[in-house]
Amino acid sequence: MKGIVLAGGLGTRLMPLTKVTNKHLLPVYNRPMIYFPIETMVEAGIRDILVVTGGSNAGDFLRLLGNGKQFGLSHLNYTYQEGEGGIAEALSLAHDFAENDRIIVILGDNIIGGSIGKAVRAFEEQPSGAKIFLKRVPDAHRFGVASIQGDRVVAIEEKPPNPKSDLAVVGIYMYDSSVFDIITTLKPSQRGELEITDVNNRYIETGTMTFDVLDCWWTDAGTSFDSLLRASNMVASWVKEGHIRA
Ligand code: G1P
Repeated sequence: MKGIVLAGGLGTRLMPLTKVTNKHLLPVYNRPMIYFPIETMVEAGIRDILVVTGGSNAGDFLRLLGNGKQFGLSHLNYTYQEGEGGIAEALSLAHDFAENDRIIVILGDNIIGGSIGKAVRAFEEQPSGAKIFLKRVPDAHRFGVASIQGDRVVAIEEKPPNPKSDLAVVGIYMYDSSVFDIITTLKPSQRGELEITDVNNRYIETGTMTFDVLDCWWTDAGTSFDSLLRASNMVASWVKEGHIRA
C-alpha cells in the first residue's frame, strides 16, 4: 500500500500566518504540522509516500523533509498542485505514483493520537473498495458527517448545518485503485472544488465502503486559529505524557 499526504491549498483560513508559508509547515507544538501525517503513515508500516503540495513555498517541503531520513525513510516523492481544486483534485495527481496499488490518503492538517496500523492491515484483507475512519465529535457540522445503519455507512454529508449524527469523517482514507476513475467523473461542488465526500459516497453506493470508529483523539489543525491552538495543546499533552518524542 502506498501513502499520499495532501499538503496543498492556499491556507486562506489561517491568513496572515500563511501569507509567506504553507499552512502544513506551521508549528504544532514541537513539530511542523506535516510531520504528524507522515509519522502516522510510517508507524502503520507505509514506506512509499508521496507529498502533494502547492502554492509559492513548495520548495520549503523539500528543504524540510528531504528524503524523509528523520522518519526512517530512504526516499520521499513530491508532486505539485496548481491552484486550489479541492482534495479529490489533489489526489488525482497521485495517479501515476499509485501504479494500481491501494492507497492511504491523509490530509496534511489531520493529527491523531494513536495507531492506524490495525485498520491498514484490515483494509489490505478487504476484497475491494474503501475504508474510512469516523470520530464522535461535539461539532460535526464542521466536517463530513456519516449516517450509519447497523454496521454500514449509508451516506456522508459535507458540512451539513443540521448533522444527522455526531460521527465526523476523519481526513484519513483508504482506497483501491478505482478511486482515480471515480475522480474523473466528479463535478465541482458549490465551493468550486472536487470533494472527497463525493468520492466516498460513490463507494458507499456500490456497497464497498467500510469504516472504523477511532477511539484515540483526533483533530484538524489548519481550519481556524482555534483548531491550530487546540492541536498544539493536544500534542503538548501527548508529548508530556511520553507518547511521542519531545
Ligand atoms: C475536509 C473534508 C471533510 C473532512 C475534513 C477532515 O474538510 O472535506 O469531509 O471531515 O477534511 O479534516 P476541509 O478541512 O477541507 O474543509
